[in-house]
Amino acid sequence: MTAAIEARGVTRELPGPVPVTLVRDIDLAIHPGEFVAITGPSGSGKSSLLYLLGLLDRPSAGSVTLDGIETAPMSVDDLADLRLARIGFVFQFHFLLPEFNARANVAIPMRRLGRLAPAAIAARADQLLGALGLAEHTHKLPEQMSGGQRQRVAIARALANDPAVLLADEPTGNLDSRSAQTVFDLFRDFARNQGRSVVVVTHDHDLAATADRQVHLVDGRIV
Ligand SMILES: Nc1ncnc2c1ncn2[C@@H]1O[C@H](COP(=O)(O)OP(=O)(O)OP(=O)(O)O)[C@@H](O)[C@H]1O
Ligand SMILES: [Mg+2]
Repeated sequence: MTAAIEARGVTRELPGPVPVTLVRDIDLAIHPGEFVAITGPSGSGKSSLLYLLGLLDRPSAGSVTLDGIETAPMSVDDLADLRLARIGFVFQFHFLLPEFNARANVAIPMRRLGRLAPAAIAARADQLLGALGLAEHTHKLPEQMSGGQRQRVAIARALANDPAVLLADEPTGNLDSRSAQTVFDLFRDFARNQGRSVVVVTHDHDLAATADRQVHLVDGRIV
């Protein structure tokens, strides 16, 4: 089976008088239906790896393929189109637009993709927010919500275009343990029952243990 996303020999260095290595020699293939957790100490390269897998950054060496297609030769615009249609990303910090309510924030990727009519976009936004326990909060601005609620809006936004690959960086960091479990259950269901690939960074070892596979990073390497 072709991996949904695969890193082969991926190294990312920041050049400079003293070069910094973010990740080194990463080999990682995530198949459709797989739910993978990435753990590791602070500064071990978890976010850096997720940015590379999410085509938000490019490797200094090695390759990242999406459905077996090499991404290195693609232009910035082509990568942006590919991300919009195929990849959902939950950032470590939510990056919601402050002047948009929850529903409008979730609608953004759908509006950019342009495949659904406005009424269908609003309905899908509400359905996603409802699945994340935010049915009563669709009209609230980010500043009117708690950190955990904002994080769940960001998760709904990442799921908006039904991505083949969902990458989430500490999506449960602001959540109580029950909400965190709900989010993990949703991710597992998204992977198993809808054949998607989910990669979640978490420092919570109990949650990580409920994933299909755990990848542990230390000093930018998989151990
Ligand atoms: N722009 C940058 N310039 C210099 N060093 C950086 C930069 N970005 C990341 N680093 C360094 O690269 C390493 C990996 O960072 P990264 O953010 O990927 O770690 P992380 O595992 O996500 O950490 P955390 O758990 O704290 O989020 C760290 O040592 C970090 O200080
Ligand atoms: Mg990080």
